[in-house]
Amino acid sequence: MILSIESSCDDSAIAITEIATNKLLFHKKISQEVEHSVYGGVVPELAARLHAEALPQILEQCEPYFSKLKAVAVTATPGLAVTLVEGVTMAKAIAVALELPLIGVNHLIGHIYSLFIEKETTFPLTVLLVSGGHTQVMEVKSLTDIQTVAKSMDDSFGESFDKVAKMMKLGYPGGPLIQDLAKDGDRLAHNFTVPLHQSPLIAFSYSGLKNAVRLAVIEEEKKEVPDFQDIAASFEHIATKHLTMKLKKYFKTNRPQTFAIVGGASANLYLRSQIEELLKPHNAKLLLSQLQYCSDNAAMIGRVAVDMYTQNLFTSLEALDIAPKSNL
Ligand code: KG4
Ligand code: ZN
Repeated sequence: MILSIESSCDDSAIAITEIATNKLLFHKKISQEVEHSVYGGVVPELAARLHAEALPQILEQCEPYFSKLKAVAVTATPGLAVTLVEGVTMAKAIAVALELPLIGVNHLIGHIYSLFIEKETTFPLTVLLVSGGHTQVMEVKSLTDIQTVAKSMDDSFGESFDKVAKMMKLGYPGGPLIQDLAKDGDRLAHNFTVPLHQSPLIAFSYSGLKNAVRLAVIEEEKKEVPDFQDIAASFEHIATKHLTMKLKKYFKTNRPQTFAIVGGASANLYLRSQIEELLKPHNAKLLLSQLQYCSDNAAMIGRVAVDMYTQNLFTSLEALDIAPKSNL
């Protein structure tokens, strides 16, 4: 069994995964959404303090498994420095106390492996990762052969939802709140420009769209009874259209047989439906994670760790360090 820890942002989570079967034996996550909601985004120092309270609470429940553990895995990159440290320090303490080897996991590979929780891996595949920290397309041939072929030049897809929700004073995380507000709105009410639509680059950018939405919000606020439904719907439409337009360009020269969407924002229903439409003429199979494993969790870290364990990809106690930026 492997014990895995996730603390890269605002979710404290620990999982126990069986090596031989990939079975998830234990998974508990304590989210900090309520605490960060008043600030409209994650406050790193507050997040670190909450991890320091939550992780030991969860670990206590794992004690029955301690004698059967073969390794300890932890998210070491990317993420917030002050929160990654919480998980890594705990992992090192467990490794020393129980004399276990350490596995340092890349959170982005964790999101890819959220597709394979309690399952075998299926490679190759092309993955769109849409989370709060990342928007990127990766060609995945195996655990150790992952090429990023497109990424965001500024904000991420999920982050743009968080920022738009903050402008509308809806709370945090913005993704589900905007999705909910958008469902009865008119997607064509606001004619926002699709980012990079004239650029031949296959890359993403959300800062321009965010600013256009900001202006629309300011205009709406001047009304006696402001109603943000149409802005939310138009924003969600254009934010998604930007992704599908760039993917369409990518598909002109690349024909993946399997395409996956992962990350917290892959829970977005409009995005899912638009990508499904896009894939139809290409006869590509769409893979999605189960809804509860789209957002950050330790089950996906544990699943990567099983493959890393099998391939002897350990990191020594001295060498294991956090890296806020990923090399993927
Ligand atoms: O993967 P995740 O839990 O954390 C990171 O690794 O960043 O993703 C969180 C992000 C947040 O920005 C959140 O607003 C976004 O995913 N998100 C969504 C939806 N649900 C969560 N964005 C759009 N639509 C959603 N339904
Ligand atoms: Zn994540």
